[in-house]
Amino acid sequence: MSVVDVLRAVAGRPPKARASFCWGRCVRGTYAPSDQAKEITKSRSFTMPSRVLARFSADGVSANAVDIDGCSLRGLSFRLGSGNQLSDIVTQSVPVHFAGTLDQMLAFLQARMPGPDGTPDMARVEAFSAANPETLRQASYLAANPPPASLACTTYWGVHAFPATNARGETRFIKFKVAPVGDERWPSEHATTAKSTGLLRDLDSRIAARDVRFSVMALLDRPGDPVMDVTIRWPDEDGREAVRLGTIVITRTESNETCDASGFNPANLAEGIGHPPDEIFAARRDAYALSQTERR
Ligand code: HEM
Repeated sequence: MSVVDVLRAVAGRPPKARASFCWGRCVRGTYAPSDQAKEITKSRSFTMPSRVLARFSADGVSANAVDIDGCSLRGLSFRLGSGNQLSDIVTQSVPVHFAGTLDQMLAFLQARMPGPDGTPDMARVEAFSAANPETLRQASYLAANPPPASLACTTYWGVHAFPATNARGETRFIKFKVAPVGDERWPSEHATTAKSTGLLRDLDSRIAARDVRFSVMALLDRPGDPVMDVTIRWPDEDGREAVRLGTIVITRTESNETCDASGFNPANLAEGIGHPPDEIFAARRDAYALSQTERR
């Protein structure tokens, strides 16, 4: 059984649904690079202005749900660049992944596989968690940092350490952080209550008001950062130096079929941003391609 089949089976998804993050809203926008982008990468996806195809998404909800649970893990995928210089950045609302290796990911999912009564065996889940405490970090982060009431006010992370090379040939690791611009204008209770339904309506009305903007940030590495482990953050990750690569403005909604057909894959990266070296990233490349083939 491939990891894609296991993801679908655990979530109870039909074969034509995305294996994860199946609820989504496809949108269009623009990307404008900052002056600093070229210091970090020569990738023309990041150093040149371009149109953007993007998809806001949520995990753990039915593909056809009109509204999503405010506490689900959220995703934001976007494609920057033009011609043969396209890059897909596929991010989520928590800065760590729930497994450090593909075997551990498969075991995590297998432990949660529903039994004949349609629910997982909680004793098995607890035994797995006790033996693999690092697999609880993603859920712990989500519990300690409830998501804001709006998808437009959510911060998204690329999780992996990406090698970025600039025009001088200097390479360093960066992590992508995609941070909402302007959410400080919203009252704090609005930004911290995660109970709401209506996330889709909220997103659509903010897009109509041209109110959805994100800074694409590169968090800069330091010697000794754990670049192979996607279950832990870098030391003082929130406090460290970050460079704004550019700004995305979401300008309109797009038919979901457009995102379904075009298929984001985190391995699609223009020269100047390389593939992260960890084994989870390597597994993602094939998994997205397989899922997209199977659901067409
Ligand atoms: C750092 C960890 C990860 C993040 C941030 C992440 C994020 C996402 C997002 C946002 C989507 C929705 C894509 C879209 O909008 O079209 C997605 C889909 C998907 N993810 Fe991940 N994911 C992660 C890890 C993984 C891993 C480790 C696997 C498998 C080995 C995986 C397999 C998939 C698959 C199969 C899909 C459905 C693709 C499709 O049918 O279009 N993901 N993921």
